[in-house]
Amino acid sequence: MARVAAKDLVKRFGKVLAVDHVNFEARDGEFLVLLGPSGCGKTTTLRMIAGLETPDEGEIYIGEKLVNDLPPKDRDVAMVFQNYALYPHMKVYDNIAFPLRVRKVPKDEIDQRVREVAKLLRIEDLLDRYPRQLSGGQQQRVALGRALVRKPQVFLMDEPLSNLDAKLRVYMRAELKRLQRELGITTIYVTHDQAEAMTMADRVAVMNEGKIMQLAEPAELYYKPANTFVAGFIGAPAMNFIEASLVKRDGEYVLDTGVFKVPLPKDFVQFIEEAGAPSEVILGIRPEHIEISREKTPEGFEVEVFVTEPLGSETIIDFRHGDAIVKAKYPGLFEARHGDKVWVRFKMKEAHIFDKKTGKAIV
Ligand SMILES: Nc1ncnc2c1ncn2[C@@H]1O[C@H](COP(=O)(O)OP(=O)(O)OP(=O)(O)O)[C@@H](O)[C@H]1O
Ligand SMILES: [Mg+2]
Repeated sequence: MARVAAKDLVKRFGKVLAVDHVNFEARDGEFLVLLGPSGCGKTTTLRMIAGLETPDEGEIYIGEKLVNDLPPKDRDVAMVFQNYALYPHMKVYDNIAFPLRVRKVPKDEIDQRVREVAKLLRIEDLLDRYPRQLSGGQQQRVALGRALVRKPQVFLMDEPLSNLDAKLRVYMRAELKRLQRELGITTIYVTHDQAEAMTMADRVAVMNEGKIMQLAEPAELYYKPANTFVAGFIGAPAMNFIEASLVKRDGEYVLDTGVFKVPLPKDFVQFIEEAGAPSEVILGIRPEHIEISREKTPEGFEVEVFVTEPLGSETIIDFRHGDAIVKAKYPGLFEARHGDKVWVRFKMKEAHIFDKKTGKAIV
């Protein structure tokens, strides 16, 4: 067990700045997720920690030790790769047993541990097969098994569940998380799936274009996103963004979207002024914070339904707001047709205001 720290990590591939001054610390025993869109530098960051890629700048610590010049085999990390990388000439059993054989673990213990992880991963029936005889999702679980069979100081996992069907993925998320807790092994886990990050992580580092946009606990990312990127990346359906202007009137701020004007809650005033009271802002409102009804509501305004998506336990209603389409989430079934008029109310206490120029959160 050990903490893992990245200090000002930089990695370039020719002209591509893949990792741009990344800083984080995974605490001892923590489950830290690196979350971000394709190409944002997640794998590159993980490979530098594993020692498979050399940073151009910066430092990596495992425990108290600076490991920049330590070869991968001396870092005591187990990595699950995005593309499995199994030994094709070895059966599943031997693929999983391999890291233990290298470490001269007694045969009986190897057998016990291989069978344990195979059970956990639901691949007990596949131990006699070769990798080429497995589906993508099965190969992925074997790769995971090869990492889990060891008890290293650190687990590094790169999208280890991406090829599993929805049901198996949900099962594996819970099992992996449970196992990690039990073993207390510091884990850095890469994914581009926000739901996976939110359910598994102690803390999440949201990355974009090689940089960390925010590092926080899941709830904080949802309730207090630091900028429009994080706000739009966390939550499904995504937060709605509406351009608006801010005007001060009688000591409070009024938000004008061009379609409706609404006074902002009193406690917003201080934050708006601390941010220099920008006149051009972006209103961020999550679909679950828009109330929708067939009858006229005080503080509400009338809109036209564009399309509805009934999802069973809830309905997503897309409506027109000026030129934009805004999504609202209704708990339960809401039947409406294209062109129907309905009333919506934005719960402004739950709203986020971002500076249009910088994208930074004001409230
Ligand atoms: N060996 C390489 N040579 C050149 N460019 C590379 C190399 N490896 C990665 N890159 C580039 O560096 C950037 C970051 O890549 P990286 O693989 O870290 O992204 P990622 O966040 O893991 O994406 P994904 O979710 O698609 O796996 C990308 O622009 C990628 O094209
Ligand atoms: Mg990757």
